[in-house]
Amino acid sequence: MHYKKILVALLFMSILFNCKEKEILTTDVLVIPQPLEQTINKGSFILNASTGIQYDDVFKISAEFLKSYIEEGGNIKLVGSNLISFIKDDTLADEGYSLEILPNTIKIKAKTDQGAFYAIQSLRQLLPPEFENGTFQENDIAIPCTTIKDEPQFSYRGMHLDVGRHMFSVDFIKKYIDALALLKMNTFHWHLTEDQGWRIEIKKYPKLQEIAAFRNETLIGHYNDQPHQFDGKQYGGYYTQEEVKEVVAYAQSRFVTVIPEIELPGHSQAAIAAYPELGCTGEQVNVATKWGVFEEIYCPKEETFAFLEDVLDEVLALFPSEFIHIGGDEAPKTRWKHCNHCQALIKKEGLKDEHELQSYFISRIETYLNSKGRQIIGWDEILEGGLAPNATVMSWRGISGAIEAAKQHHNVVMTPTSHCYFDYYQSENDNEPIAIGGYLPLEKVYNFNPIPDELTKEEAKYVLGAQGNIWTEYMKTSEQVEYMAFPRILAMSEVVWSKQENKNYPDFVKRVENFHKRLDALNINYANHLYEIEGDLLSDNNGLRYQLQTLTDGKNIRFTLDGSEPTINSEAYTKPIPITESVSIKASVFNSDKKLGTTFSQDINLHKAVGKKITINKEPHKSYPGSGAEGLVNGISGSDSRYGDKEWLGFWGEDIEITIDLGEETEINSIETRFHNGQGQWIYAPKEIHFLFELDDDSFLSKKVFFSDQYDDKILNFDYELPIPEGMNVKIKTITLKILNYGTIPKGKQGAGNKAWTFIDEIIVN
Ligand code: ACM
Ligand code: ZN
Repeated sequence: MHYKKILVALLFMSILFNCKEKEILTTDVLVIPQPLEQTINKGSFILNASTGIQYDDVFKISAEFLKSYIEEGGNIKLVGSNLISFIKDDTLADEGYSLEILPNTIKIKAKTDQGAFYAIQSLRQLLPPEFENGTFQENDIAIPCTTIKDEPQFSYRGMHLDVGRHMFSVDFIKKYIDALALLKMNTFHWHLTEDQGWRIEIKKYPKLQEIAAFRNETLIGHYNDQPHQFDGKQYGGYYTQEEVKEVVAYAQSRFVTVIPEIELPGHSQAAIAAYPELGCTGEQVNVATKWGVFEEIYCPKEETFAFLEDVLDEVLALFPSEFIHIGGDEAPKTRWKHCNHCQALIKKEGLKDEHELQSYFISRIETYLNSKGRQIIGWDEILEGGLAPNATVMSWRGISGAIEAAKQHHNVVMTPTSHCYFDYYQSENDNEPIAIGGYLPLEKVYNFNPIPDELTKEEAKYVLGAQGNIWTEYMKTSEQVEYMAFPRILAMSEVVWSKQENKNYPDFVKRVENFHKRLDALNINYANHLYEIEGDLLSDNNGLRYQLQTLTDGKNIRFTLDGSEPTINSEAYTKPIPITESVSIKASVFNSDKKLGTTFSQDINLHKAVGKKITINKEPHKSYPGSGAEGLVNGISGSDSRYGDKEWLGFWGEDIEITIDLGEETEINSIETRFHNGQGQWIYAPKEIHFLFELDDDSFLSKKVFFSDQYDDKILNFDYELPIPEGMNVKIKTITLKILNYGTIPKGKQGAGNKAWTFIDEIIVN
């Protein structure tokens, strides 16, 4: 990039002409999210006791933020004559700004205080990280003369936090909001009510505090681990209205809007535990103690609407946001199907079914909130049975909900599980802390484009932006939340702020590595997977070779092929490793003397189908393409829990047919493959598989294999013995596997009523 060359020249000149003895030279202009335009010029601005600040009331919040940041962070009082001045410029976008750092002055231009605030977040990133915690010692800081012109691509730039499954302190919520602000994110989606706990004080309903806020115990380990075990300890709490006000005011002072979520009609078991009359049966239930989807949902009685309107009245008084999130997701209709009131209401209102009853429910709440000047936002299930007239859709089950809503001219916020669920694993390392499943590495978040290809330019205008979600079933502590949020939140900030054409992953990685120092100073427990190795099998005219790469510059990779741990003396990686037999590769990244990151290991199994021609009659789902069909016969198996890695292929609700052409007639003895069976994530082993073998005499052999639906294991290993009598000595030309999708997810399971996914791994032929 050409500004880097300029940077080197500038550095050199700065050293020649500019450096006073005590000056700290800030050499990096590495801002996250990447600004729209950025140029580095000659010279630098010296921040020291001669620096002053000038602003009028329009910029009060941002200027005061800057003042205290510099006073507390750098111990510098802004009373000198080299001014940082704030200038109102109505030609700029609402949230846009320009930041000009000149030798004797810094000019911040913006139309709004919020725009100026974002200029300051950029300026902040040009200052030493020690400013973040007030440990900066020197007096003079040279900030490279730079011009930044910037504005966001999307107006909704969000992060979500589930405090229902686990709850976090007000201090932590503020720290989270601070991080959002630093990254120019403007929305905090506070998921306040859940089956496992109601977390907001509602004065009119004290049992929400006494009963709904506490569960008797909590599931231990992963939901997919059977049998379920519990810790036997009460867990809970709630935010008082005073605390909520404090959070909302704090967020306002950082231009972050807090959107509260009050889940309805589903995910409401905690409220029903407190007030059983809100459910269909009136029976006493407990606050949920394990994860998942529960059948106790609000019954659409007048009594329930009165309760919800009362709750919302108190919520509206606390949250000034235009949007109120009303949930709408994962509401099983079992209770409604068997409830006299619900069935009578369906008849009375002329509704078709329970989905339309859900629409009726949501529309009533929408009417109420609209009458109070607010708008609803809900998960994409609110499309089923018809969208409420003014609703905004949060698309999480992929992007089809977003496409449907935008085509109906409704606003949408993108948060598909595949790219925005930060509760998924971010590394393939086996020593990662337990997570819900899936695999969402930094790069996949980074490469997310919130605008679906399926939308026209006109329809794309309904995409307000995107959001990263933090569901906390497997995050008991705020450190764990930080670990899952960072650095993926950095990538998300760039997804929603930066221009798609300006995005560049290697450049981003460099900025993330630099940003680590700031995160350290902020005492944020980020995950660091930058020193991990990525491997790729190359198959071309040079035969099979295995390529190793690491993201960051200036590091060495060393490897072994005998299963031993690589050391500083192991062979240095210089070019792809030829693969002529099955091997076990281990590799690590080293700087001059030290191992960084964790050891990468990869077994390569040169079975009889490796590199053979393979076709699948359907494309894998766009979100889970693996390495395409070839990835099923590349000698590499996927990881045990990360079904979203390069080796697993995901198909949603489709039957598929896979054909492997062995090229020449081959004697084979067995076929092995694996299907993921993570039912909590809607992933099921197939219903059945039909095999068809084309033999060397052009005849066919077929075999059908059924699966039971009783698999509880996370991964279904499938090992198939060929139906060939011994001694017959037949050879096989092609193998065809017709794999029938499980079908609709049954009642009582997570995602009931939705299509199941099929995830398939390497097809090993021996
Ligand atoms: C969701 O993940 N249930 C919105
Ligand atoms: Zn009912």
